[in-house]
Amino acid sequence: MADLRIVGRAVVDGRLIDEVTVEIDGERISSVNVGEVGSGPRLLLGKGQLLLPSATDLHVHLRDWNQAYKEDVFTGTSAAAAGGVTTVAEMPNTSPPIRSPEALRERLSLLAARAVVDYSVHVGALEKVEDAKRALELGACGMKLYPEDLERLEDYLKVSRESGMRLVVHAELEGGDEAKAVKMLLSRIRADDDIRFAHISRAESLRMIELAKEGLGARIKVEATPHHLLLSEEELDENSRRISAVRPPLASMADKQYVFSGLERCSVDFIASDHAPHTLEEKVSERRAPGFPGLEIMYPLMLTEWLEGRLKISTLLKKLCKAPAEYLGIPKGDIRKGFYADLVVFDTSVRWSISARDFLSKAKYTPFEGRKLSAKVVSVFRRGELVYNGCLLVKGGGMHVRELKHG
Ligand code: NCD
Ligand code: ZN
Ligand code: ZN
Repeated sequence: MADLRIVGRAVVDGRLIDEVTVEIDGERISSVNVGEVGSGPRLLLGKGQLLLPSATDLHVHLRDWNQAYKEDVFTGTSAAAAGGVTTVAEMPNTSPPIRSPEALRERLSLLAARAVVDYSVHVGALEKVEDAKRALELGACGMKLYPEDLERLEDYLKVSRESGMRLVVHAELEGGDEAKAVKMLLSRIRADDDIRFAHISRAESLRMIELAKEGLGARIKVEATPHHLLLSEEELDENSRRISAVRPPLASMADKQYVFSGLERCSVDFIASDHAPHTLEEKVSERRAPGFPGLEIMYPLMLTEWLEGRLKISTLLKKLCKAPAEYLGIPKGDIRKGFYADLVVFDTSVRWSISARDFLSKAKYTPFEGRKLSAKVVSVFRRGELVYNGCLLVKGGGMHVRELKHG
C-alpha cells in the first residue's frame, strides 16, 4: 500500500488526463495509472483542481549574508514553495559574491541549514581551472558571467573548456545593449562550448541565437523570464513603472511577442524567474535598483497563459519543469514512476488578482500587481512531503541536488 494516492485530473508526460492515480511511496512516485486504482490514504482532487509536476527555477537571487535585509534563504525558498517551485539554482552575485570554492562551500552549508526547497548554486567568474574543478566537485551547476566579466571572456571560455564547467551569461554590454553582447558572444564561442543565455529579452538577440543554434548545435541554451514574456515597457501603468527597473529592461511589445513565440519554436529552453528582491526604498530611490521578486507568481502566470489558450501545456511544462530538471541532472519535472514526488495541485477554477502584500518574499511589490490569474497554487509536495498548503508547513529540509539520485 502506498503512503499516499493522489487521484484526479493531471498532466502526465505533457498530456492532460481526466482521472489519474499517482501513488507516492516515501520521496518518490511509485506508480502512475489512468483511473482510480489502489487502496489506502487518498487525496481526492476537487473539481477544477489539477495535479502538475512542480517547477525548477534555474535563476534566482536569494540574497542573505550582507543582504539579508532584502531576502534570506528561508524567505526566498519559502516564496519558491508557495509558487510551486521545489528546486532553485542560485546566482552568485551575493554579498560577498560566490567566486571561490570556499565561498561556495559556505553558501552550501547555509542552504543546507535554511532552504525549504532543493537547491543548486552557480559560481561567479573563476580565473583558475583548478578552482573550477573544485567548484564542480562541490556541485556547482555552472559559472555565471556578468557584463563586467565579458572583457575577459576568453579567459573564462578557457577555464570552462578545460574544466568542463558550463557557462551562463548575462548578455548585456555596459550601457545595456543585449543584441550587441549576444553578437559578440556568438562570434567567440565554439560548437562544443556549453553556454546558457540568461534572461533573453530582445527579438534581435533571439533571432541571432536561433541562427547560431541551427549552425552550432544544441549546446546553446536560452532562458526567458515571465516579465520579459508577458510585460512590455509600453503597457506599464504608473504604479508598475515605479518599480519596473530590471536588467535587461522591459522591452517593446514586438520583442515580448517574439520571445514568447520562441517557447513554441523551441529556441527558448527554460522559463526562469530571475527572482531579484530589493527593498521598496531601493526600488523607488534615485538608484532604481534593478530586479523584483518573481518566484511566487511565475508558475500561476504561465499556467494562465495555457488556460487562456496562448500556450500548449506540454510546452509550458517542458520549459518550467522538465528541461530545467534535466539541466541539473535530477529525476524531477514530470509525473513519472521513479521520479521524486515533486508535485503541485492547482485550482484552475478561480479568478484571482496578484497582490504582492501576500508574498512570502521580503519584497512585497511586483510589476504584475493586480493582474488577473486563472490558476492558484493549492498544495505543494517536495519529495513526497507536503510543504505548502495555503501556508508554509516546514522550516527547512531542502537538499542539495547533488544528493538526489536517479531511482
Ligand atoms: C539581478 C539582481 O538584482 O541581482 N537584477 C536584475 O535586474 N536582473 C542581477 C541580474 O540578474 O543581472
Ligand atoms: Zn542577469
Ligand atoms: Zn539574475
